[in-house]
Amino acid sequence: MTTDTTGTAARDGDSRPGGPADSPFIRACRRRPVPHTPVWFMRQAGRSLPEYREIRASVPMLESCRRPELVTEITLQPVRRHGVDAAILFSDIVVPVAAAGIDLDIVPGTGPVVAEPIRTAADVERIRRITRDDVSYVDEAVRQLVVELGDTPLIGFAGAPFTLASYLVEGGPSRTHAKTKALMYGDPELWHALCARLAEVTLAFLRVQIEAGVSAVQLFDSWAGALSEADYRRFVLPHSTTVLSGLVDAGVPRIHFGVGTAELLGAMGEAGADVVGVDWRTPLDVATGRIGADKAVQGNLDPCVLLAPWPVVEAEVRRILEQGRAAPGHVFNLGHGVLPETDPEVLTRVVALVHELSSRRADQG
Ligand code: CP3
Repeated sequence: MTTDTTGTAARDGDSRPGGPADSPFIRACRRRPVPHTPVWFMRQAGRSLPEYREIRASVPMLESCRRPELVTEITLQPVRRHGVDAAILFSDIVVPVAAAGIDLDIVPGTGPVVAEPIRTAADVERIRRITRDDVSYVDEAVRQLVVELGDTPLIGFAGAPFTLASYLVEGGPSRTHAKTKALMYGDPELWHALCARLAEVTLAFLRVQIEAGVSAVQLFDSWAGALSEADYRRFVLPHSTTVLSGLVDAGVPRIHFGVGTAELLGAMGEAGADVVGVDWRTPLDVATGRIGADKAVQGNLDPCVLLAPWPVVEAEVRRILEQGRAAPGHVFNLGHGVLPETDPEVLTRVVALVHELSSRRADQG
């Protein structure tokens, strides 16, 4: 009946004028006209903010993700401070994997560390399927946040099967992903069984967030850029497609993000995304040429540029807004997460500049 793959109909109740579904962020994701280019930052909630560091000083990372009142407060901090166009749920990609029974921790300065890495078919079976009850704290936090945020949309998220598999197989962060690739090439059957299970967990986790009221979801495949396009298509794309295409009826836009993915942008768009995230290596107009004119784009500002003097930042913001015009929808963002050493004042100035420059252009028609 309809070719609108964003499934707008399912959430018509939310698309009242001025509501989150009518916000500049959601409109840009759906490639509709916007009053200004929407902007948010990956890792906007985090160590760049003194108010975040204060809260986290006495609470370990995973515990903070499991306390709805803390999740709500931390998620709201960058919205209050910067006036960004969207909030992103404070959580981590390993939260659902821990909920699925895997013993892991998030070690400060290192990242996720897994007690017993996944190497065999029996190990894959240790990753249980999850239900809402396994992540009730996420359900509760999203429900609180939707009330607190009013017309500002909340982005839910999850890690994609490849990036999750890398942490689980390596046992922690890895530069080469050597053990992960050894398993992928050496035992494709086990690899696909692992990724299929992770896709199930991820899909269930995202559905909990959508049912609780998030307005969009982002799938983080941060480390997918470690693969060639051929390997990505063979070993990863089917599983990311299970997740993203599995949400076609859910009624919220889906964003698909990775780093170092210049060669993969077309394939990542094919997984069923409405928006493709782009790192700082590929200009947005070039990215649009690879992804196709039927998807919105997000990203491209190098997080390190925010550490440079303001005139450098301003020139980059102008360049990205200009190149973003080649896409049918543009969400301003970084090419990866905010670095902890970033001056939060600079982030606030970037938000104001993006709004000012893009609304002036909208005035001109
Ligand atoms: O504001 C937001 O973007 C929402 C919060 C968020 C976090 N993790 C909070 C966090 C999101 C979206 C993530 C996703 C995530 N986690 C990814 C994908 C995005 C990306 O950056 O590529 C990945 C790969 C992880 C795994 C992970 N968790 C890493 C690599 C680290 C950093 C380790 C460190 O200490 O430098 C974490 C921990 C983490 N997740 C922190 C935050 C705010 C830092 C914890 C702290 O405050 O000490």
